[in-house]
Amino acid sequence: MNRLLVTGGAGFIGSNFVHFLMEHTDARVTVLDKLTYAASRESLDGLPADRVSLVVGDIADPDVVDPLVADHDVVVHYAAESHNDNSLTDPGPFIRTNVLGTFTILESVRRHGKRLHHISTDEVYGDLEVDDPERFTEATPYNPSSPYSASKAGSDHLVRAWVRSFGVHATISNCSNNYGPWQHIEKFIPRQITNVIDGGRPKLYGAGLNVRDWIHADDHSSAVWTILNEGKSGQTYLIGADGERNNLEVVQLILEAFGRPADDFDHVTDRAGHDMRYAIDSGKLRTELGWKPQYADFGEGLTRTIAWYREHEAWWRPHKQQTELAYAAKGQ
Ligand code: NAD
Ligand code: TYD
Repeated sequence: MNRLLVTGGAGFIGSNFVHFLMEHTDARVTVLDKLTYAASRESLDGLPADRVSLVVGDIADPDVVDPLVADHDVVVHYAAESHNDNSLTDPGPFIRTNVLGTFTILESVRRHGKRLHHISTDEVYGDLEVDDPERFTEATPYNPSSPYSASKAGSDHLVRAWVRSFGVHATISNCSNNYGPWQHIEKFIPRQITNVIDGGRPKLYGAGLNVRDWIHADDHSSAVWTILNEGKSGQTYLIGADGERNNLEVVQLILEAFGRPADDFDHVTDRAGHDMRYAIDSGKLRTELGWKPQYADFGEGLTRTIAWYREHEAWWRPHKQQTELAYAAKGQ
């Protein structure tokens, strides 16, 4: 498994995975990325040029995808439109990239007999009540709420169908909410950190009681690497690090890190169809494949992430004003 094609490797989680590979393995990587607004070439800066290359192209274009798949051992498929709020404003790109793009990759791995690992989300399972003792498992029925999660559910179903109908060698992972370096500032945690750095106030959708199950991107990467090496073809693995927090708690941890009062935030217009709670039972991955997360303490990972955004202002600053204007236009 020496030559990996990593789609979406200039985005948040994909670029963290490429860094992980450079540090912990001897793999060589080609990143295939369209460089949408969410991508960042800088996230790949400083990586060894003899082991990492970037091809700028669209995963929904078979003329781009096919020769690359033919030339690699494994495809690790991160590329997607990834932000729920954007999918409510303009769902078209989500269907095109997440569904048609995944179809294009599947046809190519089928043609060339290559291994695929498909990166997905726990949001395909819909949501849980706050007081529900259950967490998502690999057996939880699909019940997506937003155009984003429905498009990811569609891509998962395509992968499963290609495994069953055509014998494609593929695995799927569904991970909970990630945080860490290089996350676009439209997302919850970096938006609030950069608001506070700017002297502004965090913006909580609704009451702020929605729960997300946070995992550091490095732990997501180590889980994917474990599945690539130990996972069984056709299987799905849930990835999570027991990091449930409601949004209000996260905002208050950020405010505390900056020495600001615990009530120094705004409630803003809630997201339409806002999922209440996500929670992952990652027992299968831990028991069958022996994986465990390194970031046992969310607070420590958050502190490091805050430090990273403080040190990388030049990276996020050019996007801040435009991102906030777009939110303000929606009352968020
Ligand atoms: P991101 O938006 O930061 O990055 C997505 C990358 O895909 C970008 O670099 C973008 O340029 C690229 N891309 C988009 N459309 C493309 C196309 N048509 N062709 C080629 N490249 C294209 O997203 P992320 O947060 O890093 O998420 C990566 C993957 O992980 C996604 O599949 C997402 O569904 C999944 N996931 C994300 C989270 C999370 O918390 N962010 C949690 C679980 C799973
Ligand atoms: P987000 O990072 O968009 O991830 P997802 O929609 O995949 O869970 O949002 C995480 C949570 O934070 C979600 O409950 C929505 C909420 N949220 C806010 O309260 N304020 C914000 O400014 C944003 C962007 C999100």
